[in-house]
Amino acid sequence: MKVSRPIFLLCAAISVAACTSARYDGPVYLDKDAPIEDRVEDALSRMTTEEKVAVIHAQSKFSSAGVPRLGIPELWCTDGPHGIRPEVLWDEWSQAGWTNDSCTAFPALTCLAATWNRDMSALYGKSIGEEALYRNKDVLLGPGVNILRTPLNGRNFEYMGEDPYLSGQMVVPYVKNVQKNGVAACVKHFALNNEETFRHSIDVDLDDRALYEIYLPAFKAAVQEGGAWAVMGSYNLYHGQHGTYNERLINRILKGEWGFDGAVISDWGATHETDAAVKYGLDLEFGSWTDGLAFGASNAYDNYYLANPYLAKLRSGEFTTKELDDKVRRVLRLIFRTAMNSEKGFGSLNSEAHAAAARQIGDEGIVLLKNDGNLLPVPDDASILVVGENAVKMMTVGGGSSSLKVQHEISPLDGIRNRSKAETKYARGYVGDVGGTFDGVSSGQDLRDGRTEEELIAEAVAMAGEADYVIFVGGLNKSEHQDSEGLDRLSLGLPYDQDAVISALVKANPRTIVALVSGNPVSMPWVSEVPAILQCWYLGSEAGNSIADVLFGDVNPSGKLPFTFPAALEDSPAHYGGRQFPNNGPTFYDEGIFVGYRWFEEKDIKPLFAFGHGLSYTVFEYGEAKADKTSMGEGGRIRISVPVKNAGETAGSETVQLYISDVESSLPRPRKELKDFAKIRLGPGESATVTFEIDEDKLCFYDDSKAAWTAEPGEFRALIGSASDDIRTEVGFTLK
Ligand code: BGC
Repeated sequence: MKVSRPIFLLCAAISVAACTSARYDGPVYLDKDAPIEDRVEDALSRMTTEEKVAVIHAQSKFSSAGVPRLGIPELWCTDGPHGIRPEVLWDEWSQAGWTNDSCTAFPALTCLAATWNRDMSALYGKSIGEEALYRNKDVLLGPGVNILRTPLNGRNFEYMGEDPYLSGQMVVPYVKNVQKNGVAACVKHFALNNEETFRHSIDVDLDDRALYEIYLPAFKAAVQEGGAWAVMGSYNLYHGQHGTYNERLINRILKGEWGFDGAVISDWGATHETDAAVKYGLDLEFGSWTDGLAFGASNAYDNYYLANPYLAKLRSGEFTTKELDDKVRRVLRLIFRTAMNSEKGFGSLNSEAHAAAARQIGDEGIVLLKNDGNLLPVPDDASILVVGENAVKMMTVGGGSSSLKVQHEISPLDGIRNRSKAETKYARGYVGDVGGTFDGVSSGQDLRDGRTEEELIAEAVAMAGEADYVIFVGGLNKSEHQDSEGLDRLSLGLPYDQDAVISALVKANPRTIVALVSGNPVSMPWVSEVPAILQCWYLGSEAGNSIADVLFGDVNPSGKLPFTFPAALEDSPAHYGGRQFPNNGPTFYDEGIFVGYRWFEEKDIKPLFAFGHGLSYTVFEYGEAKADKTSMGEGGRIRISVPVKNAGETAGSETVQLYISDVESSLPRPRKELKDFAKIRLGPGESATVTFEIDEDKLCFYDDSKAAWTAEPGEFRALIGSASDDIRTEVGFTLK
């Protein structure tokens, strides 16, 4: 589409006249117009060794010292990644009890990934960046792009799914738009942090193809395309070295191959020794457990591995300033880009625009998994029974470091009640986690209910028979062993016997809709009984409004799954054949590159719901894909176009997905791999042509014998469809 714009001519004379202000004659590092590298070198040259050591470790739970003598400010970090964490006490995780630090909670990153919309990621980054800026934060600890290897990982809700290309595409706009605020994105957890239980001691090993093709691309995109200013090292080990200071991952790949010029920040408490931290790439140490008493030091932060212990080694000559200066340069660069960024504004907090952004991202991320007989959308005047704890439970409190203190959170029940024009009743259905506090933040809810399971089900069933529609809102929550940091889930099933509640409800009322709130796949033994299922994620402040938007058809669902829902846990790669889980110590990723849909296709295992799946209230018809040529040479490109028509009566959006299949290859390759996607909006009866451009990069695999990306000449197929298991048209071509 071409857009013509009026041309504005800049008058050279005006700009010359405007530039006659007095010349700055202070030190270079304070000259906002000087190149950043000159400022870094100038500041570095003025710092004492003690001052240098002081800027590379924490001075409080979330801040590091600046250089007070030189007027270089402190650096303040905040979690991340779904909203701005409340202020905590100086050396405690507990909230400080401020009353001006409530934020907007944006949908969890799984939901963002499920939008398959790069513009939503840009909107997310812009909005959360503005909130961070208003709260005077310099570094946002997020986003996270660890690949979903197992559906039991307690932190999958903070990540962007199982596919390296989708995660890479979705992380870049987030990073760029956070940083437009003068706030650094700190992409985490680099790398291979794919399970939680033994996150401090699991020692991951895998072949280089899996490393380069599956686990690293999203980080690489965040760094090279997004221009991330910070990266957080992971807790786990890789090849026997902790991720936070890892010779291969950080020195050779991140800083070497990818040319990362920002700072590597440790995960909180991920540093365990001085020498390796000095040598293998850590720049800024946070969260090591302070041990002031044992050391008898005046400030416990002096005991950090990159504090006095490092200073002593510098003084004794065990280390020269070579590594130190590199770390300080990186930290200074980070400070000049953020805390001393003279172009940044002031941000905004809890604005109407942020609530609208959260709602829009939620609207676009909700996935319609099933809709037999077009049961959804629910008519305005239908009487509704809402059942389930997740219809009322606040989900922004809990789950670990991403826990928030929100200005408001609309529950699903309130969202439905506000929107429905008829009566909406509520039955609890089951009792799950009645707690609601995290690090001193309380949801203020009292969810205790002393009734037995039988009594709760009996009540819900009796009420279900009297309603036109039943909407069950369940799923997981943010308590231990669910979607929560530090521990993994214990099974794929829904907790608290929700399966029994759902089966009883659908027997009592066939117009039962299940809306699942979770950041992970769950098993659904009742899938064939229930006519309509929505995957709703954790949607943040506007949760209930987004859910109501989709339930009532104000928004036509357009989310697509960013990961596979396995039918059974043993079907998924990390659990296949009874593999050990959770893992501790040396752990080899046997499945190699076959992660997510790559695995299910390779093994011919039918998933419950496939990667990329997501229905709509309208129907999209795909025409025949056509290539502009049948072969391409080195450096060439092929354009593949496919017409798509909205053949229904409702406007809606479709994500057209391009997968590439390498017909013959010297190394095993997945049956197909996502290589591009486009989300288009079409009115009823409207058509559009989507054109994808394929270059050699999209045909490559990582050849570990050559340590290089290779595109082998031969036959390829471009598969275009609505989901990984719903390819509508394909076209072949040759790479010469
Ligand atoms: C988490 C990080 C988080 C940090 C600070 C760690 O436990 O792994 O993701 O940013 O704490 O809260």
